[in-house]
Amino acid sequence: MLITGASRGLGAELARIYAEDGWRVIACQRGAVPAEGVVDRLPLDVADPASIDALVQALQGVAIDLLINNAAVRGDTGGLDTLKPDGFLDVMRVNALAPLLLTRALHSNLKAGERRIVANISSRAGSLAEGTLDDDEGDYAYRCSKAALNMATVKLAQDLRGDGISVLSLHPGWVQTDMGGSDAVVSVASSAAGLKAIIDRADLADSGSFRAFDGRQVSW
Ligand SMILES: NC(=O)c1ccc[n+]([C@@H]2O[C@H](COP(=O)([O-])OP(=O)(O)OC[C@H]3O[C@@H](n4cnc5c(N)ncnc54)[C@H](OP(=O)(O)O)[C@@H]3O)[C@@H](O)[C@H]2O)c1
Repeated sequence: MLITGASRGLGAELARIYAEDGWRVIACQRGAVPAEGVVDRLPLDVADPASIDALVQALQGVAIDLLINNAAVRGDTGGLDTLKPDGFLDVMRVNALAPLLLTRALHSNLKAGERRIVANISSRAGSLAEGTLDDDEGDYAYRCSKAALNMATVKLAQDLRGDGISVLSLHPGWVQTDMGGSDAVVSVASSAAGLKAIIDRADLADSGSFRAFDGRQVSW
């Protein structure tokens, strides 16, 4: 399996538990990558198409059972008054465009895999139906980027079904990471374990769905 944003938070924990479960893990992260450890590490800045190209070159001929598009940024949380065009587009590039580019770049690796799953780590904050029910944070860029990622999930599910590739949107809960902050209620360990359980059970019948780490279906 290959996961993005594996330097810390949920990505680091998912890489760790998949390796513990016996998977070969290709943990991607930007900046310098440590040479030693239980997972293979490759450099990847998901916002940089040249970095995606270099990753694809390094992985030629390597079958990938599972791609987890996990890397994300939150961006400005101040609301309409503090929204800045460049900042908005930076968030869209990492959270919405990069998963699409990476899925396209690794399409033949995924077709060569047995499990054939793309898991997009989304957020309930990007749900049109549920995102503002109990959360009034003003993060326009983050919400819009995750809503866009959800449409990418649905469209990729349609396009890749013929290749037997399932595509999921997953909400990890409000998780105790740098992004989630100190008030978050779900531990990294229980979020990652819940996400892994959903991914491990997923097949084409689940493709194009949006689920939370606890198994609940999230409305789009
Ligand atoms: N925490 C929550 O409550 C929560 C709730 C809903 C959804 N999520 C989603 O869950 C996923 C994981 O979030 P988290 O809480 O673990 O966040 P986090 O602690 O802030 O970690 C974010 C990860 O993304 C990486 N990243 C950011 N930009 C990148 C880029 N351009 N290229 C490569 N890697 C990049 C970071 O790498 P660096 O170390 O290099 O910065 C880091 O590894 C995200 O998709 C997030 O939107 C989280």
